[in-house]
Amino acid sequence: MTREAVDLVAALSTARRAAHLYPQTHPSYVEAIASFTNAVSACVAARPCTLAVYAGRLYHENAPLPLDVPAVRSLAETFESHNVESVTFHPDVAQHELVALLEALSAKPEAGYDLAAELERAGVVGVTIGVIADEDAQKAEERNRKKEQDRALYHRLLALMQRLSEQVARRGEPDLEQAGILVEGVLARLMEDSAAVLGLTTIASASEPSLFHAINTMAYALVMGAELGIPEEGLASLGIAALLHDIGKVPFDLTDPEQAQRAEVLHPSLGAEILSRLPDADRTPMLVAYEHHMGVDGSGHPDREAGYVTHPYSRLVAIANRYDHLVTPKPHGLGLSRDRAVIQVLREGGASLDPMFTRLLAKAFGVFPVGCVVRLSDQSVGVVIAPGPSPLTPRIQLLFEPDGTETERGRTLELAGSGLDIVEVLDPRSLALDVFERL
Ligand SMILES: [Fe+2]
Ligand SMILES: [Fe+2]
Repeated sequence: MTREAVDLVAALSTARRAAHLYPQTHPSYVEAIASFTNAVSACVAARPCTLAVYAGRLYHENAPLPLDVPAVRSLAETFESHNVESVTFHPDVAQHELVALLEALSAKPEAGYDLAAELERAGVVGVTIGVIADEDAQKAEERNRKKEQDRALYHRLLALMQRLSEQVARRGEPDLEQAGILVEGVLARLMEDSAAVLGLTTIASASEPSLFHAINTMAYALVMGAELGIPEEGLASLGIAALLHDIGKVPFDLTDPEQAQRAEVLHPSLGAEILSRLPDADRTPMLVAYEHHMGVDGSGHPDREAGYVTHPYSRLVAIANRYDHLVTPKPHGLGLSRDRAVIQVLREGGASLDPMFTRLLAKAFGVFPVGCVVRLSDQSVGVVIAPGPSPLTPRIQLLFEPDGTETERGRTLELAGSGLDIVEVLDPRSLALDVFERL
């Protein structure tokens, strides 16, 4: 295989020289193009063939090509001067596409030259270009930095909820100043990248399920609120309300089944009472705590007179709360996959949940929400990291190759236009995956 790759490089080099020296109708040019095409065909007979440059050396797949072949050295230089990290020839590549590649590689590159865009303009699909590694490395570093910040934000939220719970348990007033500051932090992230806020909810909850539930409910409610177009001030209020919606459970020992049952019935009124003690506070969290278990069809609790209409934020939080319960693993939740939970929420729209807002959740989360681990039609496995141009084609981070080996970190796939489909949603726990780590 390496032999064929060396032949390919030599043929490419000869063809480039011919392209410089002769007009396209010249027999030497025609012959050089024909040999180049044949050399490519020999290489791509079984599967795509990739030539890559790394630290000045040319590689075919993972094997370095011999340095004593002049064509190998000069092609490595040409790749680097054109900001190209790799060139992949696909089995169905056409001769005119190879000519387009030659022309693009023969042009004198200027700063910021983009060979991939050049070929795309020429309609070339049989040859794909990888851009120079530096940019990828910078992006990966930036992504990791954001991930660390997100994780830190999540842990500050957990610590905050812990502190608020302790304050309430001691019959004190919860100090909401810090909550406001942290919710602002989540909002800033939401404006920048709402997929990242959904991603926060994939942080695994080994212990303290109620703290995780509060934060996840807030994340879901804020993503829905932003989709609805609620202005920032309203979102801040919605975020705090969602974070505190179950604060009325704090005085109960939830590990005792009898108390847990009483908590279920009493926590809305108790939560409202706790929040009503706060002087000069925004009254929305109090209202949401009181109303978040009231079904739009009159079901749920506390009891109220016929025709009582709940606050829109209470209805949003009710859906966020329900969605989190559906996706939380057993025994604390129902352990549904994220895509099935969207369908279940839609089913409950019009019964206990507000039907307009359930559709809003489906629109904001997509058919395959962020965090869904999916198998693709080529048998590779990935995780949804962001919505795509259509609900069925999200952006995916690849995790496993079709043969089951682990994919190198950071390889993303835009499902739209890739020719691949999602064929199955997998349970991340069965793969022992830390989803958040891989988003
Ligand atoms: Fe609740
Ligand atoms: Fe809840």
